[in-house]
Amino acid sequence: MDSFDVWRVREDFPILKRTMNGKPLIYLDSASSAQKPQVVIEAMKRFYEEEYATVHRALYGLASRSTELYSAVRSKVQRFINATNEEEIIFTRGTTESINLVAHSFGKAFIKEGDEIILSEMEHHSNIVPWQLLCEAAGAQLKFIPINDRGELILERFDELLSVRTKLVSIAHIANSTGTVNPIKTIIQKAHNWGAKVMVDGAQAASHYAIDVQELDADFYAFSGHKMYGPTGVGVLYGKRELLDAMPPFMGGGDMIEEVYLDHSTFQRAPLKFEAGTPSIAEVVALGAAIDYIESIGREAIDSWQDELLIDATDKLLQIKGVRIIGRAAKKSSIISFTMDGLHPFDLGTLLGLKGIAIRTGHLCAQPLLRRFGMSALCRLSFGVYNTHEEIDFTLQAIRETSLQLT
Ligand SMILES: Cc1ncc(COP(=O)(O)O)c(C=O)c1O
Repeated sequence: MDSFDVWRVREDFPILKRTMNGKPLIYLDSASSAQKPQVVIEAMKRFYEEEYATVHRALYGLASRSTELYSAVRSKVQRFINATNEEEIIFTRGTTESINLVAHSFGKAFIKEGDEIILSEMEHHSNIVPWQLLCEAAGAQLKFIPINDRGELILERFDELLSVRTKLVSIAHIANSTGTVNPIKTIIQKAHNWGAKVMVDGAQAASHYAIDVQELDADFYAFSGHKMYGPTGVGVLYGKRELLDAMPPFMGGGDMIEEVYLDHSTFQRAPLKFEAGTPSIAEVVALGAAIDYIESIGREAIDSWQDELLIDATDKLLQIKGVRIIGRAAKKSSIISFTMDGLHPFDLGTLLGLKGIAIRTGHLCAQPLLRRFGMSALCRLSFGVYNTHEEIDFTLQAIRETSLQLT
């Protein structure tokens, strides 16, 4: 795309033409899940109508074609995040499964009693609970990097937490609750100085950040298709080849085997070793279409548009009396969480919904972060490539009116 034209982009998303409660839909919940462009919907439809068969298993033409399409997305993802080779790309059901895969498999091979894993206070529950389960089973310990009042990691405290006992650090690239963009490269370098591996939760980054896993030197990187304009039920785990080779399978069955005997089995190498059972074939194919879509606009263009919306909405929101924004990091992505004096987030969310405006309310799957700020629920606006300044103005006017009515 030569120059970014949001009105052109909006034409690509059929759902934006519908109404909610009789009002034009204003969708401000892309951090939960992004809407789908026609090309993604079509890719799935076409695949089921014309090309569907299972992958890897059969020799007939349709199965070879389907396997070809599925495998082509692996190399597309490899290029998208600049992995060294496509064997480092594992298809999962989403970020949550990718993190659980590493917790189980890397955990089984490398985490022992007395070891430590470092997370941060701003993690999504999907990047906390799998490590709690692992530490409980292995007798290892979790440590947390605290955050300051702006919602940024306190890196000096990270330095103090790191030690020879640290085996893994797992951190969000962008926090889903505050939009804080973390200094991932610095974190990785610091962890590597102690011999620890680093997993990056990239769920909020993949739709608009140029990710280069080699440049970051990330050991693992995870993201979900549905947050990057692709389908649900598909995600990616990137892992360095030598680590994946040293890790045992996560689940058993399907194409992850080499030979199965009654008393034991041998396994494929990565990525197939980690893709047990029939995969989400159509979803993988449509993820390829989502990547093509993002690249047709350009991640830089998407990111700078969303930044513009972030600045506009932050400025205007702060002009409303009683608004408190949670998360004022110097480096922030297009997510704004806030509260309003005298108005419960659920009430605001419900009333905005009646006006056609979709925002997220509640604990945002980040209860430890909310507790850190003394909260149990927040309102969250999050932007996608299709949002406009006009939608922000309309939404802020609706928030203003609601607060005047109810406070
Ligand atoms: C930062 C972060 N990590 C993990 C997840 C979990 O992603 P999924 O539900 O697609 O597995 C999310 C989803 O909101 C997220 O924002």
